[in-house]
Amino acid sequence: MGDTVRYERDGHVATITYDRPDALNAINAQMRRDLNAAWERFRDDEDAWVAIVTGAGRAFCAGADLHDGAGAAGAWPGSFWEIPTINSFESGLELWKPTIAAVDGYCLGYGLTAVTACDFVLASERAEFGFPEVKLGVPTIVGAIRLPGRVPMQHALELLLTGDRIGASRGKEIGLVLDVVPAAELMPAARRLADRLVRAAPLAVRATKEMAYRGRTLPWLDAVRLGETMRRVAGATEDAREGMSAAREGREPQWRAR
Ligand code: COA
Repeated sequence: MGDTVRYERDGHVATITYDRPDALNAINAQMRRDLNAAWERFRDDEDAWVAIVTGAGRAFCAGADLHDGAGAAGAWPGSFWEIPTINSFESGLELWKPTIAAVDGYCLGYGLTAVTACDFVLASERAEFGFPEVKLGVPTIVGAIRLPGRVPMQHALELLLTGDRIGASRGKEIGLVLDVVPAAELMPAARRLADRLVRAAPLAVRATKEMAYRGRTLPWLDAVRLGETMRRVAGATEDAREGMSAAREGREPQWRAR
């Protein structure tokens, strides 16, 4: 992992931190590589069941780094886009472990794209969300694909087509944000949510998340048949036996993700 992103794990909860606070965590080419590495590490870390993603300093992320090959020579956006998007977290890494965005301050452009790829969004009272790309003369693509899946279409288009920013309470009103908390409460709130998620059986959680997302695009019969197969696979795990035994014996289950 490089210097621009931190990956830390505490128990079953990983925290991925955008860490270029002097540039409001704007994403340059190095940071894109570091982010890709962090998300792949989370995917492959068997002890990490839930991720919280957040930003160091006063912003979550100010979007693409405008000094990194962008703008100056008129060549948008230069090296930021030299990193392939296709298997990034934002653009479709197969990741069925739950993810929580903890957003404080500005959350713009590609930072907001990442947030729309998270399952849960918690915001501080001073969070601001926006896709400024259209004000810079370029479209936002993955954000435009993802946002209408998160909020009703006209709210998505208001953000995407005006480039204007909205605050945390408006974000909650339109359904982008699950909860708004004071800034000092943001990480504790994210951790509490993560702790609730790790109390559930991790493989059952992943199968359920996968169906929740895949079920939106698969034809009904294909979704149900895939789901039945997944139920049988998940039902044959040690955790499924443990869950049933614990329920019969009236005790807390001990999950092993096996
Ligand atoms: N790329 C590179 N550096 C950025 C950046 C970006 N997208 N956004 C902020 N920064 C840097 C600033 O250049 C500044 O660095 P400096 O102290 O070396 O001059 C530092 O972060 C602080 O930014 P500043 O503009 O002084 O803070 P602010 O609170 O007045 O404004 C923003 C914050 C986010 C509103 C403003 O920085 C902004 O509009 N940034 C560009 C957002 C954007 O268009 N992103 C591209 C999306 S595709």
